[in-house]
Amino acid sequence: MKIAVMPGDGIGPEVTAQAVKVLKAVVGDARPLELVEAAIGQAGIDAAGDPLPAATSEIARKADAILFGSAGMPGDEAIPFMMRPGASLLRLRKELGLFANFRPAFLFPELIGASTLKPEVVDGLDLMILRELTGDVYFGEPRGSGVNANGEREAFNTMRYAESEIERIAHVAFRTARTRSGKLCSVDKANVLEVMQLWREVVTRVGLDYPDVELTHLFVDAAAMQLMRAPRQFDVIVTGNIFGDILSDAAAMLTGSIGMLPSASMAAGSFGLYEPVHGTAPDIAGKNLANPLASILSMAMMLRQSFDQAGNANRVERAVRRVLADGLRTGDIFQPGCHRVGTEEMGDAVVAALDAQEALAGLRMAVN
Ligand code: IPM
Ligand code: MG
Repeated sequence: MKIAVMPGDGIGPEVTAQAVKVLKAVVGDARPLELVEAAIGQAGIDAAGDPLPAATSEIARKADAILFGSAGMPGDEAIPFMMRPGASLLRLRKELGLFANFRPAFLFPELIGASTLKPEVVDGLDLMILRELTGDVYFGEPRGSGVNANGEREAFNTMRYAESEIERIAHVAFRTARTRSGKLCSVDKANVLEVMQLWREVVTRVGLDYPDVELTHLFVDAAAMQLMRAPRQFDVIVTGNIFGDILSDAAAMLTGSIGMLPSASMAAGSFGLYEPVHGTAPDIAGKNLANPLASILSMAMMLRQSFDQAGNANRVERAVRRVLADGLRTGDIFQPGCHRVGTEEMGDAVVAALDAQEALAGLRMAVN
């Protein structure tokens, strides 16, 4: 298991350290683990003058998976695009062809009070946003800024999708829907944009190969509304890059804390980049306050999707449930009556919960 570890900026290093700790605990001696650390974001600039140093790309290419923390510095919009710490992630996605971004929004029953929506609206929420990650207005050319014929400054980007890009994400979406409840909602803006008419057409055509999956379509504005009104009507949502960016943050907040949500960005095979959805959170960085559970849960997705270790992934997820049930909380999910812990204590508690599972399994074996 060759894993590139990219802690990055802000709270990235401290949460990634906890994920690595849990990873070592769950894999144990069963499989050789090779962890190679690589600099990214501001850390890349400090190490090699580039937010995505060539050495980092090289390490990524040789790995089976990437465990990513977060990248970006406050105010980095002012720096030219390619040199921004935050843009390193976009470059990595494009370079490695990580086109399929899985963003689950799952409500842990223990955290139902943390959602700003009424409990009866979010109870049992479990949806998957599948976001196309390497196309759309994020990467479409032409892009740029200049001065127009009236002498006024003007800037532009291009929303663009080729048929093959829509096809491949659609196939991933239908296959994902098959492993869940068999329902897929495609989100577009086909009432206004040509590129989204193509999106709808292609998704519909690909759907003919999956007669067992129930396909529906929504315009993105209506989808945003429905996500707030009745989010449990959704199971898998597939959408383009920018709509997915926006809807996944909205969906994240249904669960109460973005500090809990993992993500996976997959290339064509089993190669993936695993990353907590939360960003760098510079205000709390280095203070042992950040919630490491999103990073730990991202690592669990890595075990399942890159290493075919569903058993270990389940064990990590169960251990996370256990510490929440035991009342342990970092500040972002703190509720009165719970026990407030720091980043490291939370990681240690997950490891302890894994050990307890093992002890219990051993006991069962002994009894049988
Ligand atoms: C995300 C983030 C990124 C994006 C930023 C940091 C470039 O918001 O992963 O959702 O827009 O894709
Ligand atoms: Mg985003």
